[in-house]
Amino acid sequence: MARKPEPTGPRHVAIIMDGNGRWATKRGRPRLFGHQAGARRVREIVSACPDFGVDYLTIFAFSTENWKRTQTEVAGLMSLFRRYIIKEMQQFVAENVRVRFIGDRARLDARLRGLMDEAEKMTGHCTGTNLTIALNYGGRDEVARATQRLAQDVAAGKLDPADVDEETLPKYLDTCLLPDPDLVIRTSGEARISNFLLWQSAYAEYEFIDTLWPDFTAEEFGKLVGNYGGRDRRFGAVKA
Ligand code: FPP
Repeated sequence: MARKPEPTGPRHVAIIMDGNGRWATKRGRPRLFGHQAGARRVREIVSACPDFGVDYLTIFAFSTENWKRTQTEVAGLMSLFRRYIIKEMQQFVAENVRVRFIGDRARLDARLRGLMDEAEKMTGHCTGTNLTIALNYGGRDEVARATQRLAQDVAAGKLDPADVDEETLPKYLDTCLLPDPDLVIRTSGEARISNFLLWQSAYAEYEFIDTLWPDFTAEEFGKLVGNYGGRDRRFGAVKA
């Protein structure tokens, strides 16, 4: 479909994809069945981004807290991520989608890390939708890792502590190449942000919707993006 830019719409949408487990349980199926259905939705929503003028899509695939799930579910999710990257990459290149990952890669297995590097390299020349997948991501963890790197630069004499301000710190975040999200969507009826993009979402609008992630369609995505266009964002200022 031809690109229809929406100048008042959100340029960067971030999504907390919640409800896969409940979706599967409602059908009497294992939780992984829900994650598989959720992965199919990711494809649909990524493909819809150009239609709604969304240049950046950031999705929460696995949090630093998700390791507390059963070993079966964690292993199943990791295997799903590996298969997803292998299966979808050619299509992302064909659709001009640039893929990036945020989160702490150190705890992920070497094979998955290799595939993530490959996906970033393969799509490095793409100039369309910027898809960022948060994998082993936590907002507090990201700020802590950023602070560690910043402190190393101070210790090495590369950075003057007096120069550390709101412009400096985000340069050390995993998201340093991305604009801040304008709209954050969470599916499945929970009204929490669960440690997602804490620094970056300071001025974002939030949409908490009841739909379970595997039922979330491009049509609903388009409606939420459209709602945003009607909102009045003042970033703390008074309207002139
Ligand atoms: C939350 O639902 C979902 C997750 C922890 C995993 C998200 C993963 C996907 C959508 C699938 C694959 C993604 C990619 C990028 C391939 P939940 O399990 O917490 O659901 P529940 O709250 O109903 O239990």
